[in-house]
Amino acid sequence: MYPYSVANNGLSTIRVPLFDMICALSTALDLLDPALGSHQKRTCLIAAQIARSMSLSDTDYQNVFGAAIFHDIGAIGLNDRLSMLDFEEHDAHIHAHLGALLLARFPSFACYAPLVNCHHVQWNHGLGQMHDGQNVPMMSHLIYLSDRIEVLAQGQDNILGAAPEIVAQICAESGRKFHPHFVTAFCKIAQQESFWLDIFSNNLDRILKDIAPFENIDLELDHVLQFAQFFALIIDSRSHFTATHSAGVAITAETIARHLGMGDQECMKVRMAGYLHDLGKLAIPSEFIERAAPLSEKEIARVRSHSYLTLDILSMIGGLEDVAEWAASHHERLDGSGYPFHLTAKDLSLGARILAVADVYTALTEDRPYRPGVPPDTALAMLDEWQQQGKLDGHVIAALHDNLAVVESARVQAQHQEGIDLAEFWQSAVSPSVTAQKVRYEKSHYA
Ligand SMILES: [Fe+2]
Ligand SMILES: [Fe+2]
Ligand SMILES: [Fe+2]
Repeated sequence: MYPYSVANNGLSTIRVPLFDMICALSTALDLLDPALGSHQKRTCLIAAQIARSMSLSDTDYQNVFGAAIFHDIGAIGLNDRLSMLDFEEHDAHIHAHLGALLLARFPSFACYAPLVNCHHVQWNHGLGQMHDGQNVPMMSHLIYLSDRIEVLAQGQDNILGAAPEIVAQICAESGRKFHPHFVTAFCKIAQQESFWLDIFSNNLDRILKDIAPFENIDLELDHVLQFAQFFALIIDSRSHFTATHSAGVAITAETIARHLGMGDQECMKVRMAGYLHDLGKLAIPSEFIERAAPLSEKEIARVRSHSYLTLDILSMIGGLEDVAEWAASHHERLDGSGYPFHLTAKDLSLGARILAVADVYTALTEDRPYRPGVPPDTALAMLDEWQQQGKLDGHVIAALHDNLAVVESARVQAQHQEGIDLAEFWQSAVSPSVTAQKVRYEKSHYA
């Protein structure tokens, strides 16, 4: 049971650790397939340990760490997520390319795009220095090696017993698949039992945090908002029925919050909670979200886990306790009939009540596979019914009534823009020659 914290800490700015945000994003991506476990984090740890043993430059270390921890981000929406883990890969460059495109859209992560883009390029006795007519960053070869080591190591119930065979398999490909310098460094640290045991430690997050190159970097509120928007793009990109849902909830919730007199910072946090409220849906098969036929009872039960998972992941981020609470409460109802905690009016803060109304209102106006969206007036009439039944907050719904035109224009515009962004992304994703130019080789301002 997660205890909810007090909503407002009264500070004019918040600072959120960059590592926490990155780690939460990596964990959220791993929800897409439980079989992946912590593949990205373990790959990151392997790459970081090899890099540390080689005394690489700070910039190389930061780039390899940052790119490795979400190197498979482009597997969102791909049905072949598991197949890319096969040692004999098929079309692995597709998810690498999609990942690079996604990262390039976010200024803080754009510096990792070139590395992710090439993370399945083989060394091929030096020919792997170029791919698709572009230079391949050397650190991409380290991520590729680390990724393959992780794939060989995962699922081993006696990792120390399996280690010599893994080393032998990797060495057999030195020069062909893998850069020999990285293989040499790997063989050296592979002698240490702790190298292997760390990879499967129950304290993986803490071990990563201890060696993260940005452990002391904090993000300002507007940067955190950008992160939240980036998360929303990932969440929304999985289904065309809910393709702009998070963006719609975010702007609706923020607009209501503003009209209810919340301060600037609180309004930004409400918007952030809107972007993040369905984060846990990454663990729900997209087939459930797309299906026109009704879900079975067991399937509905699985869908209901998503808001708990939202809380589970957001709780990893220091400084966002209130955002986590508001986001995770969007299916709670004032009469206790909601989920997952069956909270009642006395437990539900204003932020949580706003998120619940914004979520229902936005969902009603959107098409679903089993029904078309309803006009704003009809959606409001339905909200009024829920209020009379004691489920949703009357003041919040009244604010929506009073400012319907403003809310609607903001919501429609935000969802329209997100739709354009997503369409652009998928369009460029199917045209590698065009997208190669779009992957911006920007330097992060954290470098
Ligand atoms: Fe990959
Ligand atoms: Fe991978
Ligand atoms: Fe939800």
